[in-house]
Amino acid sequence: MLKGKKILIGVCGGIAAYKICELVRELQRENATVRTVLTPGATQFISPLTFESLTGVPAPVDLFKPFLSEIEHIELATWPDLYVIAPATATSIAKFASGIADNLVTATFLATRKDVLIIPAMNTGMWENPATQKNVSLLRKRHISVVEPEYGLMASQLEGKGVGRLPDQPIIVSHIYRKLWQKKELAGVNVTITAGCTREKIDPVRFISNQSSGKMGFALAEVAAAMGANITLIHGPTHLKPPTDVNIVAVETANEMFLATKDNYPTNGILIGAAAVSDFRPDVISEKKIKKENAASVIPLKQNPDILFELKELRKQSVHIGFALETNDEIAYAAKKIASKGLDFIVVNNPSEKGAGFSVNTNKAKILFPDGTIVDLPLMKKIELAVEILKKAMIIHANL
Ligand code: C5P
Repeated sequence: MLKGKKILIGVCGGIAAYKICELVRELQRENATVRTVLTPGATQFISPLTFESLTGVPAPVDLFKPFLSEIEHIELATWPDLYVIAPATATSIAKFASGIADNLVTATFLATRKDVLIIPAMNTGMWENPATQKNVSLLRKRHISVVEPEYGLMASQLEGKGVGRLPDQPIIVSHIYRKLWQKKELAGVNVTITAGCTREKIDPVRFISNQSSGKMGFALAEVAAAMGANITLIHGPTHLKPPTDVNIVAVETANEMFLATKDNYPTNGILIGAAAVSDFRPDVISEKKIKKENAASVIPLKQNPDILFELKELRKQSVHIGFALETNDEIAYAAKKIASKGLDFIVVNNPSEKGAGFSVNTNKAKILFPDGTIVDLPLMKKIELAVEILKKAMIIHANL
């Protein structure tokens, strides 16, 4: 996903510095070339040797003792496609805002003309302090991206929960994607995505559902956002964190998902049905918890609306994409779905294939077109499959 991209990470002196090792690894797994530069404070938390071992190049710290070139901060400032500062401490943010260049991280910041992404992490009081908030807003006014830190358990157990945590790695990676994908192929295009499972209540505590995690739909939203689309992500119950800058509609039942999708229909855009919608719901929802003694052995069901099928009728100059999850005869079943739901293509997967399925991060899919063409894709990350799907959707959309 980040093939050929050069990412410089400026590590500042916060406890979250240790999390940057895994970030380096993840970016390398995405085929980026990563280098690091540390503030003297960062070395109190983590050794430059750790980063040197991970990246295979020096992790410079000292402004006055260049490792690689005579004028290190200028070389560092011109080398990357993106300069990520993580964790960015309150002090470093203050220095960025006021133009102080007293170490390699801050001097590189001041010198660079490349895109910068600042990812703060600090104690809640420090983050909420008006001085920090003023510095952050000053940087944002200068069009420098500063990611909001997250709420959660802070480093010191005594602090408990608060705002100031370094965002989880997938969130950081998604911000990096968005920065580096400058070609906004879907700029201004409305994309509506359904994701995850739905829940159909039997009584106040029980429901019918399925194992869909929502990962595929969320990956599609992530990639569509990086491509510049206007996204509405309509999702059922999930533990996943929604991507930023996406219109999120959280629903529970298939009916709610249907109504939300209809309300957010992407006229002249792209509709992707990645949700595993419950086909049936209990005919009657018991108001009280059903007691074992009174339970019937059969729960009468009625059919839920088929979202893609219903919206086929309302289709307005848009691309419609569906998913098919089959354990056998997948192509034959998928072909029937293309016809009945009026799809431009369908993504077919079989959860019993190794690496495919509900909660994993990878998928093995075939893409089937109405004319019978099949694109058999290798095992890949769901985020990579999302790119394949959106690129195909984009071509069809361009030819509408
Ligand atoms: O018919 P089947 O459920 O296998 O079709 C799967 C495709 O149809 C997926 O794209 C899914 O999101 C969509 N679907 C739907 N509404 C339903 C059931 C499935 O939009 N009630």
